[in-house]
Amino acid sequence: MDDKALFAISCGLYVVGTHCEEGFSGCIVDALIQSTAFPATVILCSQHQTRTNGCIKASGQFSVSVLREDVDPLVVALFGFQSSRHIQKWNHIPHLLRGGLPVLHNTAAWYVCNVVHTLELATHSMFHCEVRESEMGEGVPLTYGHYREHMKTATVAAFQAFKKAQAAALAAGAEGAGQPIG
Ligand SMILES: Cc1cc2nc3c(=O)[nH]c(=O)nc-3n(C[C@H](O)[C@H](O)[C@H](O)COP(=O)(O)O)c2cc1C
Repeated sequence: MDDKALFAISCGLYVVGTHCEEGFSGCIVDALIQSTAFPATVILCSQHQTRTNGCIKASGQFSVSVLREDVDPLVVALFGFQSSRHIQKWNHIPHLLRGGLPVLHNTAAWYVCNVVHTLELATHSMFHCEVRESEMGEGVPLTYGHYREHMKTATVAAFQAFKKAQAAALAAGAEGAGQPIG
């Protein structure tokens, strides 16, 4: 079994946004595909242990921001390298509300989705969803392959710089410096 062989499957990189009692949450995903065009439906595979997974199950809905190749690496780090259990991710990134859900500025496109069916796998929930709202944006959609080849180092560096700035702000007693939310 060559795990790297699966990298030959083309996929994009997205920020999923959702909400539950604790507020907005969200994370980076690559496991999102269109399943049918008419009606417009998508499938999202979401890891069980993420806060995003619990919030999608609680609310039955989520937004998708389609990242662009020129995305700030901090966006991938903020949403992909840490859990919403420890930080209000959306407070750190400019966003709009669409259908009551957070969507990033400057996306290649965005969608708002309702979960129609859920299949529980061993490690992931497979959400089959209808696309309730959508809008095309501008720019080149980011692929997972482009991220791995050209952005990974910058993303790790951006995360380290973010954590350092956060620690300094907390030490200085600044308000809103990534308050844990339980
Ligand atoms: C490049 C990349 C791709 C990812 N793809 C997925 C994915 O397809 N599905 C998923 O559930 N998590 C995926 N993750 C992991 C989540 O983004 C990560 O666990 C996140 O911290 C979860 O945050 P949450 O607890 O706030 O939901 C990916 C992370 C990265 C960096």
